[in-house]
Amino acid sequence: MSIKHIITVPDETLKKISEPVEKVGENEKKLIKDLFETMYQSKGIGLAAVQVGVLKRILVIDVSNKNEKKEPLCFINPKINKLSDETAIYEEGCLSIPDTFIEIERPKICEVEYVDINGKIKNLKCDGLLSTCLQHEINHLDGKLIIDHLSKLKRDIIIKKISKLKKNPDRILV
Ligand code: NI
Repeated sequence: MSIKHIITVPDETLKKISEPVEKVGENEKKLIKDLFETMYQSKGIGLAAVQVGVLKRILVIDVSNKNEKKEPLCFINPKINKLSDETAIYEEGCLSIPDTFIEIERPKICEVEYVDINGKIKNLKCDGLLSTCLQHEINHLDGKLIIDHLSKLKRDIIIKKISKLKKNPDRILV
């Protein structure tokens, strides 16, 4: 297992559409372990393969509370079959967009069909935080980020700010 580097905006890879996985083989299983390790280390609750530069339709999620037992979930080739009319609003952040939180309204409930780590087709109906997180991660597989919910002007301001931060390393005085 290894911790992967998470790519951040404005890396163009984040805008690409990930390819479906044809078979869950050893490479995919290793990637999934790395995704979990990278997500836990970064204190995120979800991570898509594209965020570590791999264009495969694979994502991992764990929305359990810090003090609870871990609840790792892995979704391969996830496909949303149904979305509720009722919506929910969360303030969302993204490991690929440092220090940025945006209020986003999404359908509250979603029904998803996916392949699990053993190659079995599964269905899951989710609500609340899991539903929002899953929709956020599936957006990643289609090259869509939370800043795409904003106007171009606001989006450009955020990208400019992050690009500037990348060029200027943290200044310390010791
Ligand atoms: Ni994200």
